[in-house]
Parts: sequence; structure tokens; C-alpha cells
Amino acid sequence: MYLMKDITRDGNPVLRKRAAKVSFPLSDEDQKLAKEMMKYLEVSQDPELCEKYKLRAGVGLAAPQVGVSKQMAAVLVPAPDENDEPLFKDVIINPVIVSESVQYGALTEGEGCLSVDKDVPGYVPRHDRITLRYQDVNGETHKVRLKHYPAIVCQHEIDHLHGVLFYDHISKDDPFTAPDDTVMIS
Ligand code: CO
Repeated sequence: MYLMKDITRDGNPVLRKRAAKVSFPLSDEDQKLAKEMMKYLEVSQDPELCEKYKLRAGVGLAAPQVGVSKQMAAVLVPAPDENDEPLFKDVIINPVIVSESVQYGALTEGEGCLSVDKDVPGYVPRHDRITLRYQDVNGETHKVRLKHYPAIVCQHEIDHLHGVLFYDHISKDDPFTAPDDTVMIS
């Protein structure tokens, strides 16, 4: 199981590389990678286990964050009520945003990242709604429409596959300014 020591941190060149496409059927190694990344998210979202293993809770983890430059990311966005099904849960492979809203969305609290130890305050403007195409671990193609928080999480993870970190999007001059019709998500 991945622990914080396994997570690559800002400054590691793997986080700034474009990740390679993944081919199917997945190798044993890639299957293990997918499984372990999702496992990290599940364990990190369990308050007791999170504390026990000294993890930082996460809703997304991309392969470059465990040192593997491949287009794969685990996403686990829990529902507001923990008894409900997660808002989004899958390992997204070779993901592509096929369409996006003109309207922006941003988290009121800004964003964080398991690979960035310091707090970087400011709004990260993203598309409020996206249509995402990706393959799952079985090579099956999915096309899903996402809005608000899950859309933001997926954009953050896809950025990782392109060598982009969230703070790259924060305005240096005006970190807490967003276009007027930006959907603010708390
Ligand atoms: Co991140």
C-alpha cells in the first residue's frame, strides 16, 4: 500500500512530464498500479486508517504522483452523505476532456494536492462542467458528464498527466479574483 513516503513531491521532475498513453490489455504491473492508487484514496478517506498510516486524505491520485509517468489516475469523490454512493469513483485511463462549459467553477477554499506540501492560497479557475472520455481498467470506454466538484477533481488529476500543478492556474496578481459568473463550490 502506498504511504506518504511513496508520493512524489513538487520539485520531482516526474510531476512536470507529459505522461505516456497506456495500452490494453493492462499489464499486471499497470493493474496493480490502478488498484493501489484507488486503495490509497479509500484508506485515506477512512479517518481511523488515515490517522494510523499517517496519510493525507485525498480524492484523487495520478500515476506521476507515485513516480509512474503514465496516463492513469484514481478518483474517489465521496457523496456528501457517506451512506450514499460516491459522486464519482473510477480509475481513469487515457482520459480526455471532450467538451467543457464556458462557465468556470472554482473551490472557495482553493485546491490542495498530495504532492504539494505547502498551502497555496487562491482560486483555481476550471471549467464548471465537462464531458470526460476515458478507459477503465478493463479497457472499456466511458463518456461521462460531470459538474462542480467531481469535474474539478478530474481536471486537477488530468493536469497531473500533462505536467501541470494546481497553483499554475492561480493568478499571481489577484489570487482571489474569478470571472463574474464563476460557480463557487464549497
Ligand atoms: Co494533485
